[in-house]
Amino acid sequence: MSTQDFADLKLFITGPTFIRPEVREAGQLPEFGHRDSENLKRFGPIMVGLKELAGCADDYHVILFNGSGSNAMEATVRSLVADDECVLNVSVGAFGDLYHKMAVVNGKKAAQLRFEPGATIDLALLEAALTKHKPACVTFTHNETSTGVVNDMKAVCALVRKHGALPLVDGVSIFGGAALNLSASGAATYVTSTQKSLALPAGFGIVFVTPEAVEKAKTVKNRGFTSDLVDQVGSALKHQTLTTPNTTLANQMAVQIDYILHTEGIANRFARHITLRDMTHAFVSDLPGFDLLAPVGHRSPTATAVRVPEGMAIARLKKIKEAMRAKGYLFDPGYGKLNSDLEESGQRVLLRLGHMGDVTPEMLTGYFEALRPELLG
Ligand SMILES: Cc1ncc(COP(=O)(O)O)c(C=O)c1O
Repeated sequence: MSTQDFADLKLFITGPTFIRPEVREAGQLPEFGHRDSENLKRFGPIMVGLKELAGCADDYHVILFNGSGSNAMEATVRSLVADDECVLNVSVGAFGDLYHKMAVVNGKKAAQLRFEPGATIDLALLEAALTKHKPACVTFTHNETSTGVVNDMKAVCALVRKHGALPLVDGVSIFGGAALNLSASGAATYVTSTQKSLALPAGFGIVFVTPEAVEKAKTVKNRGFTSDLVDQVGSALKHQTLTTPNTTLANQMAVQIDYILHTEGIANRFARHITLRDMTHAFVSDLPGFDLLAPVGHRSPTATAVRVPEGMAIARLKKIKEAMRAKGYLFDPGYGKLNSDLEESGQRVLLRLGHMGDVTPEMLTGYFEALRPELLG
């Protein structure tokens, strides 16, 4: 095997995503000891910078978990739902279903409220479910990557809070690509990971958690070890990780967070994502027979799902993927399980267009020029 054979594709999937050359090079910075003063030079600015990007201050702790977003999500349900309590998992797609699965396999008493692919959370139905199940915690997805739908996080959190429950939010595929204003959101926990809009390799799950939620966690039994939010916060307060971190990724992250804050600028980054989203909508509207899945007002700034024309099968999308590979791109032929369910029930399947992280408008234009003839051919 030769590493020369590894293709250097431009990724337009919904994460992992394109990594800037400067961040690739930062992978060669020196390794360090995670209990040494060198650790603070990386994780100090990373943690402060993440809070700035989230729009919060000391009202949230920020934890870096080894693993990915899933590890961080699992820790929230494991640590915050007690044995005699119920967690309500609200799903608008595959990742809402994932949060429910995590609650179930951790032995939690779990109820699920599910919406059709492409739908957003209906607040009246949520209110009915809150009244029925009286949950202690409610999980939901901010940006559903399988459908490109953004939920109104603030409105959902407010309703959940009105019913006395803690909102646990999955923001994996939007954090770093849109203004969050976490301090005003009402979220008790907000989870993300490095390989989406932060444009880094995968390797850390990130949890923002309120002191109030940490106090609640102290009352929950069997929180595990790496999934224990209380111990994790203990390390985070020292700007450390609970277990040995990937120091290569930490070096890259320190460089990338500094770039986001001080070179690109947070406001410019969010504005660029809106530009990418609008370019994507314009591209789709020029393709006869193709339609955006998400409803107006809930269309993601980071990932777009598109209904393909009647009769265009998954097999065809897979051929397009290979044609795009030959052109140097990685194309996303839709979320696997959702597409097979849609095809089996005779409905139009989906493709997805990822436009997150450090992708530039010029890169997206090049991608669309290469993709258009494949979709119309
Ligand atoms: C919305 C959402 N939640 C959770 C996950 C799982 O995160 P990870 O792959 O970082 O474990 C993903 C991954 O695609 C996601 O898009």
